[in-house]
Amino acid sequence: MSRAEKESMSYTDISEIVLHGDKYAGTKVKVAGWVRTARDSKTMAFIALNDGTSLKHLQLVMDKSVLDADALSPCLKSGASVEAEGVVVPAAREGSGYELNVEEIALIGDCPSDYPLQKKRHTLEFLRTIPHLRVRTNIFNAMLRVRIKVSYALHRFFQERGYTYVHTPIITGSDCEGAGEIFRVTTNGYEDARVAKDEAEYIARDFFRRKAGLTVSGQLEGEVAAMAMGKIYTFGPTFRAENSNTPRHAAEFWQIEPEVAFAKLPDIIKVAESMIKSVINAVLEECPDEVDFFEKVCEPGLRAKLEGVVASDFAVLDYTDAIELLKKAGEKFAYPVEWGLDLQTEHERYLTEKVLGKPVFVTNYPKKIKSFYMKQNPDGRTVAATDLLVPGVGEIIGCSEREADYDKLLQAMTERGMNLDDYKGYMELRKYGSVPHSGFGLGLERILMYVTGIGNIRDVQLYSRTAGDLMA
Ligand code: 4AD
Ligand code: MG
Repeated sequence: MSRAEKESMSYTDISEIVLHGDKYAGTKVKVAGWVRTARDSKTMAFIALNDGTSLKHLQLVMDKSVLDADALSPCLKSGASVEAEGVVVPAAREGSGYELNVEEIALIGDCPSDYPLQKKRHTLEFLRTIPHLRVRTNIFNAMLRVRIKVSYALHRFFQERGYTYVHTPIITGSDCEGAGEIFRVTTNGYEDARVAKDEAEYIARDFFRRKAGLTVSGQLEGEVAAMAMGKIYTFGPTFRAENSNTPRHAAEFWQIEPEVAFAKLPDIIKVAESMIKSVINAVLEECPDEVDFFEKVCEPGLRAKLEGVVASDFAVLDYTDAIELLKKAGEKFAYPVEWGLDLQTEHERYLTEKVLGKPVFVTNYPKKIKSFYMKQNPDGRTVAATDLLVPGVGEIIGCSEREADYDKLLQAMTERGMNLDDYKGYMELRKYGSVPHSGFGLGLERILMYVTGIGNIRDVQLYSRTAGDLMA
């Protein structure tokens, strides 16, 4: 922070005082925040104040014989916003850090008694009904801080390794995953549908004069950039109209997608593994309070799990071997296990939690269940693809080497009945200086679930976005 910036700010961040209290002890500061809890006794009053800069609250200590009672009393309400000035002192209770001996306090914004976040702990389900207020709870405070540290650590990982960050379009005319889960983008209304004599005319009336949708992945455009820049990544929102009500699927989520020219599957697996370790290291080092907190409220053993992931090698398991293991498991799965069928979450979790007890890359899936762009293996029935599965969550990364051969790509697309006109440019990459290349997509919310132990994707976003749920 520059000197001018410092001088223009009248409030000290609470994180400064709770984390570096020794620097402030004995000095006068002014803080502003929201009252989490307030305690009132005959002679003294106490407020736990939070301004969002740290998970820890600052304890305000008020001597009622000194302070103006009319100024103080409206401040003693959960949810009220207040400003206070006083001297930083070591907390009366030893080992509790520092607190503020308040000399002046004033209400900024009143908070009536129907404020929903009164003292008691609320369920995450209840908090989902008040997305505009749930941010003011410890769990969302901690989650949002970890979320941004993870994002920053991802940027740092790729930038330090010479990747160019590219912004791929959100509105697109292609379907990367081919699963038909695209949200349509249109300016047409009810009337346009009524008067158009067929679909072609309906589309001709539309903004782009062709079918458009929200991107499910930045990969196809990312490949375009990688064919010039070599190593790129894209990081932004992606959208899937998946009508499945699971704790792991969101309609809008963030994905980080690196794409690397000249890399084959084993090369990109190495990138993925060191990226995950680097992110987890950052969380352990930069969010120690948050990790302790999540260990207490979400997942006992969280810190040991994260430290274990950083210290050990991830497993690699061929899909065909995975099917054998699952068949021999003697478990009662709800979904069938057969070579050629996709792995369901229950299978993924069995492999990573019970068989291996650590993250695992499952490789070489049957080509029929995977996307058109994946490199076909010489066996003619599998592709050079891998999913990274982790305990507690299942798949967090989808990864593959891409088909770099024009004819094989054309054949895969024709077999799937794809409209080749929509992919002209993408296919030409295989015509003009084609090279082997690989990439993957990591779901930001999925890795957040993994590092925090939060069990539902709806609780790792500011606003959750799932079928039938669009809270404003
Ligand atoms: O496995 P997916 O579908 O792969 C792709 O989209 C590739 N184009 C990525 C690439 O190679 N560049 O999705 C990648 C990851 C998943 O492993 C998962 O972490 C996350 O994106 N993901 C979702 N996260 C939340 N909600 C959903 N509905 C998700 N669908 C995928
Ligand atoms: Mg996938």
